[in-house]
Amino acid sequence: MAEVKQTGLETQSREQWVTRSGFMLAAVGSAVGLGNIWGFSHALGTSGGAAFLLVYLIAIVIIGYPVMMAEFTIGRKAQSDAVGTFEKLAPKTPWFITGLLGVGAAFLIMAFYPVLGGMVAQFFVVFLAGGTAVPEASGPWVGVAWHLIFMIMTVAVVILGVKRGIEKANKFLMPLLAVMLFALAAYGLTLGGARDGLAFMFTPTWASLGDTSMWLTAIGQAFFSLSLGMGALITYSSYLKQQERLPGTAAGVVGMDTGIAILAGIMIFPAVFAFGHDPAGGGTLVFGTLPAVFGEMGAYGGLFGAAFFFLLGIAALSSAVSLLEVPVAYFMRRFNMVRQKATLVVATIMTIIGLPITFGVWYDTDFVYGIAATFLLPLGGLFICLFVGWGWNKNEALSSSDFGDSTLGIIWLWILRIVAPALIAILFVYKVIDVVKNGF
Ligand code: PHE
Repeated sequence: MAEVKQTGLETQSREQWVTRSGFMLAAVGSAVGLGNIWGFSHALGTSGGAAFLLVYLIAIVIIGYPVMMAEFTIGRKAQSDAVGTFEKLAPKTPWFITGLLGVGAAFLIMAFYPVLGGMVAQFFVVFLAGGTAVPEASGPWVGVAWHLIFMIMTVAVVILGVKRGIEKANKFLMPLLAVMLFALAAYGLTLGGARDGLAFMFTPTWASLGDTSMWLTAIGQAFFSLSLGMGALITYSSYLKQQERLPGTAAGVVGMDTGIAILAGIMIFPAVFAFGHDPAGGGTLVFGTLPAVFGEMGAYGGLFGAAFFFLLGIAALSSAVSLLEVPVAYFMRRFNMVRQKATLVVATIMTIIGLPITFGVWYDTDFVYGIAATFLLPLGGLFICLFVGWGWNKNEALSSSDFGDSTLGIIWLWILRIVAPALIAILFVYKVIDVVKNGF
């Protein structure tokens, strides 16, 4: 390896994105993942369709975008990892706990993410080989093998580092993903379920807007889908030099993430309706209903299935890379490790935590996802809001964000100070009551 001095100790040797679009594509790569396709269709399907979409869009604008701007701002300013950012900007204060929470969340999410990623890879191969279902009798070891394969691919990208791994991979993968998604959505619309599928997504039943649990799901989904609340985007923006207009970049990332989630819905729901399946299949929508739909499609079903899982695999891989990078960047600085060692250590721990999920014992994806998406990420997001809004210097926040003294900047600051924290706090109270009453 050419770059030996990558301990992250001295800021001079800290890695940087090579190109302007490199950062933005990497952020999009992080944001667009299983959350947009598996998670979004799951949430939209089980939470009543269009009303959920509306609430989700509101959550994106009043919480998602401001929090993303907060992460971009402190990350670029501090030029450190998720924990080091707070240690640098607010030395000798407890704010660094926010970063530790994020590192912890990364380990949890990476317990199940590669399990799903492995299933995606397995389905891809099954469809490619002309099948439509994963053989029942394949047993847990096959799952473990796919889990490991997905993890190894993620490790390979992260080991290559910011420029040669993460930036290069995303520059290649993101355009591919966009092209395939458009093609598949267009094909999905020809299947005959277009009218029902689109109505389900875009015609709200107003009564369901009063459903608080749907609001909670929407806010949690916004955090997860935009990669917020655990320092992934703090870490990515720490590899950014000063010249970049953060507000525009964040708007681009939010827009693409949301657009891709909606496109994924346009690809999935018409197909589900065309073949008379239930849109509220939840977690089984992508791994049960869709493969069945592809199987019923006839001649082109296998091809469509292979293409779909290939696309999902790309999205999952580029997100997993960012999830792995958060603890890796932290371990490099904190324990003075080189990138290769930090990556292997972190990935090994993640795999061990994830194995019980692959074997179907102790805890499962829904449980871990619930803890991460509806507790840890919003909690991290809450602290990030409070830090930038109250814990940091106001003028520093405004100028480092590139908002400057503009009206938008002031609105942003007040959202971080009051609006977003209040909404997240309400989320918590409801969620805790809900969990106490009904379990996860
Ligand atoms: N945003 C990713 C997705 O939609 C998941 C993710 C969450 C990535 C948090 C990084 C941090 O799948």
